Amino acid sequence: MATTTTTLAPENVSLAKARGCQSREDCLSLYAQWAATYNVDLADASQNYIAPFLVADMALGFSSHAKGAILDAGCGTGLVGEGLARGGATTIDGLDLSPEMLKMAERTGAYRSLAVGDLTQRIAIANDTYDIVTCVGTFTQGHVGPDPALGEFVRVTKKDGLILATVLGEIWKSGGYEAEVKRLEAEGLIDVISADLKDYRAGRDKANVIILRKR
Ligand SMILES: C[S@@+](CC[C@H](N)C(=O)[O-])C[C@H]1O[C@@H](n2cnc3c(N)ncnc32)[C@H](O)[C@@H]1O
Repeated sequence: MATTTTTLAPENVSLAKARGCQSREDCLSLYAQWAATYNVDLADASQNYIAPFLVADMALGFSSHAKGAILDAGCGTGLVGEGLARGGATTIDGLDLSPEMLKMAERTGAYRSLAVGDLTQRIAIANDTYDIVTCVGTFTQGHVGPDPALGEFVRVTKKDGLILATVLGEIWKSGGYEAEVKRLEAEGLIDVISADLKDYRAGRDKANVIILRKR
């Protein structure tokens, strides 16, 4: 009987380095070097990084929320913002640790404002500001842990507003993200609409895509 084998293109070297970051400084240095080629590296067919477009489409599905103010946290080069803007969202603010990634995001023209910010700390945004917070690709190895980031997203989201975020599947439990979501739910701060495992880089890895509604 004939057999077929599927050969994946090699892992992207910069992505492997990103997942190996040990500190904020490692992240800053890696993304400073990677910003210019990030989109080509990840969005091309060999890496199949579909998560930004998947989450943008999911957010746009909440059409009345998507007409409001959106924070794209860990916006990087702006793939999520581009997806949101293509679907008609007009009020998108981006925040990221890396000035070089933010420069690429600016070129998309999708964002109302872009700011440097560190999601491992309290963020400089007032309570109850956004209708939607998106965060894609930033809850991954070597980047941002669940606390305080998830609680901060809840704080800056309006009542009944939504948080849509990816958490790389392999660290959903081990990294404490599931436990933090459960804690926020038990405290009566959010309802969990879903946390399903979905394609992240299609054919390569999956992420839990969480959709939380602020109470
Ligand atoms: C894999 S990229 C994802 C970017 C974009 N959301 C996307 O899906 O293409 C991860 C991003 O997280 C940002 N990042 C890493 N650590 C961060 C931190 N402590 N605070 C804010 N952003 C951070 C990086 O600068 C980078 O732009």
